[in-house]
Amino acid sequence: MKERNLTNELSAALDTLSKAVISQPLEKSSDAKLSVRPLLHKGRRIFQVEAQRGAQAFHQNLEGEALLRLCESEWDGRYRQALIVTEEASAQYSLRQNGLYKKSGGAAVPRPAAAQGHNREKQYLLREGEAIPALVDLGVFTADYQIVKARYDKYRQINRFVELIDQAFAGSEEKTITILDFGCGKSYLTFILYYYFAVKRSMDVKIIGYDLKADVVEHCNAIAEKYGYTGLRFVHADVSKDVLYGERVDMVVTLHACDTATDYALHYAIQKGAKHIFSVPCCQHEINGSMHRGGELDVFLRHGIIRERMAALLTDAIRALVLEDRGYAVDMIEFTDFDNTPKNLMIRARRTGKTGTAGRAEARALADRYGFTQTLLRLEAED
Ligand SMILES: C[S@@+](CC[C@H](N)C(=O)[O-])C[C@H]1O[C@@H](n2cnc3c(N)ncnc32)[C@H](O)[C@@H]1O
Repeated sequence: MKERNLTNELSAALDTLSKAVISQPLEKSSDAKLSVRPLLHKGRRIFQVEAQRGAQAFHQNLEGEALLRLCESEWDGRYRQALIVTEEASAQYSLRQNGLYKKSGGAAVPRPAAAQGHNREKQYLLREGEAIPALVDLGVFTADYQIVKARYDKYRQINRFVELIDQAFAGSEEKTITILDFGCGKSYLTFILYYYFAVKRSMDVKIIGYDLKADVVEHCNAIAEKYGYTGLRFVHADVSKDVLYGERVDMVVTLHACDTATDYALHYAIQKGAKHIFSVPCCQHEINGSMHRGGELDVFLRHGIIRERMAALLTDAIRALVLEDRGYAVDMIEFTDFDNTPKNLMIRARRTGKTGTAGRAEARALADRYGFTQTLLRLEAED
């Protein structure tokens, strides 16, 4: 079996490192155990080293190069055991007489039963085991970066959301981005988006999450500060009436922002000329509450459940008409399976600048005939 130098092994694992543990020193005077984990600091990936000395633990944060130098000078050949876990694999190293290490394992990182289930073969863009400490604070990951069972559905939604964004950015050379998240709530998506752009794409990213709940906003700001996510902040605001960010905006996202909060987000994106919109609506009550009989659609109004579903679909169809008329190419995507969430329709829109499709006139004719109000149509009434 090939024998290895620990520093080279750590170096090869560095880009996807989840954790490393170096233990059983040859000399009594050495630290008893060293644990390494990646951290995001001011938008950059660094490594925290925890050294166990007696009953005490000492911490230092290092850049990748400095970590490798420390490994080469202090650890390599001086500890009997090492464990290196990356996003893909976990390997154990045992020191040999000649000062090199024998590797065992290299197996794929195991997933717990909860993460297997329905999507056994699925490879997520953001994998379980990936060291995203903010998600531990948010209650999505356990302390060893496994998905909390009760959050698994949300995790799948968010992964899919980010996958769709990843597709939109394939081949993109953009280096900076500003994103607004309307109705961010507990902000799992917002934090993961920040991680995706700052760490995975190494972009200079600014994200603002808006929500009505002051306590949630405060909690999210505290977590962002704790992990040095300097480009991420949360603002207590009512998006239907408060003044929002006034500079350039590249992307607007919503995930289950309630009822007309989605309309205010789409309106804002149109007004700012945002290039990308990714919006998963929910609770589309407005048309259902205001629609009366008026023509062929009456057949959908006889039974409450059909009326409700039709009104929700009509709401999103009108949103697409308005967006197209205002210069966007729109796709409607079933962004995750129905059993994951029934609120699974995503409006994905990309700015083309080609306005004037007469979509608003078409929607207005329907609104006049059936007497309903629709907030985006109202907000985008004027050119
Ligand atoms: C169902 S939660 C979704 C939260 C989050 N996006 C997610 O998917 O986990 C909807 C959030 O929208 C917020 N919201 C609703 N109307 C709003 C408004 N007018 N302005 C700001 N936030 C609003 C609510 O406070 C709530 O936190």
